[in-house]
Amino acid sequence: FDTVNREIFRPVYHFTPQYGWMNDPNGMVYKDGIYHLFYQYNPYGSMWGNMHWGHATSTDLIAWEHQPVAIAPDALGTIFSGSCVVDKENTAGFGAGTIVAFYTSASDRQVQSMAYSLDNGKTFKKYARNPILTSTQRDFRDPKVFWHDATKRWVMILAVGQEMQFYSSPNLKEWTYESSFGKGQGAHGGVWECPDLLELPIEGTELMKWVLVCNINPGGPFGGSATQYFVGTFDGKKFVNESPEITKWMDWGKDHYATVTWSNAPEGRAIALAWMSNWQYANDVPTQQYRSANSVPRDLSLYTSRGETYIKVTPSPELLKLRNKSSMKYAFKVDRNHNLDKLIDDNTGSYEIDLTIKNKNAEVIGFQLFNSRGEEVEMYYNLIEKKFYMDRTKSGMISFSKEFPSVTIAPVKGQDILKIRLFIDKSSIEAFGDNGAFAMSNLIFPSEPYNRISFYAKGGSYNVTELTVYRLGLKK
Ligand code: FRU
Repeated sequence: FDTVNREIFRPVYHFTPQYGWMNDPNGMVYKDGIYHLFYQYNPYGSMWGNMHWGHATSTDLIAWEHQPVAIAPDALGTIFSGSCVVDKENTAGFGAGTIVAFYTSASDRQVQSMAYSLDNGKTFKKYARNPILTSTQRDFRDPKVFWHDATKRWVMILAVGQEMQFYSSPNLKEWTYESSFGKGQGAHGGVWECPDLLELPIEGTELMKWVLVCNINPGGPFGGSATQYFVGTFDGKKFVNESPEITKWMDWGKDHYATVTWSNAPEGRAIALAWMSNWQYANDVPTQQYRSANSVPRDLSLYTSRGETYIKVTPSPELLKLRNKSSMKYAFKVDRNHNLDKLIDDNTGSYEIDLTIKNKNAEVIGFQLFNSRGEEVEMYYNLIEKKFYMDRTKSGMISFSKEFPSVTIAPVKGQDILKIRLFIDKSSIEAFGDNGAFAMSNLIFPSEPYNRISFYAKGGSYNVTELTVYRLGLKK
């Protein structure tokens, strides 16, 4: 335990495995007040391999309790990514309310398998007649299953090379091919992986639209892994993208991958979790006993801007519980520069910064977070370009991979009032801008926490009407 906790980059309020390697979040399902998180897990070391489904549970998406491995390799192969459902009507015959897991059995081929839990997710039994779906395609994986109410059928989406395939089933055991989606749609710089399909409300309307989440690696906007999505219609058989010519990204950082949502989530919520890394360097990041953390949980909805519908990503409201009572508040005007020598006392590297900017006529509005070792992260809005930038090229340890030092860029609307929330947790920064209009997740490896901030203005001025710094931590 001692060695485990000596890791200086281990986050406080982001999920990490106690020991070993983690990649994709898998099979997230909510049942009887408990959020289950399964994940791609190597219990034998902190590099990718020997994939199992690790398991953790939570009642609030924030404090996680480690559980024993849920699904381990067998003669069909190792256990790749997938999903869980709650079979309320007992369509599969394992019992009403059974949690049923779908995963890819990976060996020299990839096939789909099923397991079920008769004790509410504690332990899983593998289905005796696995595999339930095979193919001649090499990349054939990551089953996402959900109940499609309109057609009273289960739907499975699979990532197959550079397309998504849709299957349907009355009983979770027998699957019929329905359609494929992908040709001429969105980004194709790499393999499509870890699909999700969900119906989301458009804010300010009574309308709902279907969103197909499609993780892609490589081929992300800044190299390597990223999450794209498509908005359109789904009739139980076929997904139709309403804007085939536009590529949409869910997060504009370099460390946001394998994003999927909770099955059976509390009424009206779509809660997503990403693996906060990138296949370009995931095996090389400077942690020892474990590798990788998940993102903070995020609630998804839709908004429309100039006739296009986009995903709105907001930090899940449960994150407010992390705020320590003591916070620091500042307000000031920035003509050229404004420095704060200390964000909070005894900064341990886990904190949230909330920023509101008003009365702006500057062209560039920016700030740097520093530590005493000369390491820094710079963030700025360029309001002429209508872009938000995050630069981690001097953020701390960067030399473990030439792909790591980077500047990531999100498009912004540049409205009158700018608002940003930054979740910082030892080795990551997640920025949520302008009420969900953009999210940007990037890893950082500073040798000590950044505890100074320096604002600047170019081509004008602005007022920081609110700069609040909250220390974040789990309540004991
Ligand atoms: C995505 C992925 C999945 C696969 C899993 C293997 O990161 O490549 O497609 O199921 O990881 O660990």
